[in-house]
Amino acid sequence: MENNVRFGLFDRLIISFDNGLQTVFGKPIPTGRSYPGENLPEADLDEADRRKSEGLMRVNHAGEVSAQALYQGQALVARDENVRSRLSKSAEEENDHLVWCEQRLDELGGHKSYLNAFWYVGSFTTGLLAGVAGDKWSLGFVVETEHQVVRHLEDHLQKLPAEDQRSHAILEQMKEDERHHATVALESGAVELPSPIKKMMTLQSKVMTTLAYWI
Ligand SMILES: [Fe+2]
Ligand SMILES: [Fe+2]
Repeated sequence: MENNVRFGLFDRLIISFDNGLQTVFGKPIPTGRSYPGENLPEADLDEADRRKSEGLMRVNHAGEVSAQALYQGQALVARDENVRSRLSKSAEEENDHLVWCEQRLDELGGHKSYLNAFWYVGSFTTGLLAGVAGDKWSLGFVVETEHQVVRHLEDHLQKLPAEDQRSHAILEQMKEDERHHATVALESGAVELPSPIKKMMTLQSKVMTTLAYWI
């Protein structure tokens, strides 16, 4: 029995490592949902607006790299099988977001953040620590993360050039999914995090969003 448990963790470690490489260097596997901007026209943006859209979508892509890492770190050490499978389902949807943001960055002629490996390792470690603290804390972490992401996406929807309908469509769909991820975590037994931790998370995401806009 003990061997099975150890082997299970070892298996998950390998899968998790593979997922990390796919997220940062490869092509993550999406769930098959269509690209939200698919049927919308490409905007004729001037250079300043194109750069703005590019910077914002790079931040969103880096955010999705972090989200993927967080979920993977948490799922690796989740105690309850049901919690683990719910975390993995949300992680799959984060893969859609990753793929959509990458496609949009390509369309805008932009590049992904050069610091993606760094965001991944940092967020994976955070997810692991949250997971070790216990499932209810780990889920509480998901709720707070997703709420912060929803607020961040609302801010980006205001900042994006209005003509950039394709980016808008992607962020709207992501916002809806992130809200759902928070609800799933709440229904799975999340507890509210202490406010110093929430503040630390805000600070951490501020560093990432500021740097990823440029590099
Ligand atoms: Fe996401
Ligand atoms: Fe999410």
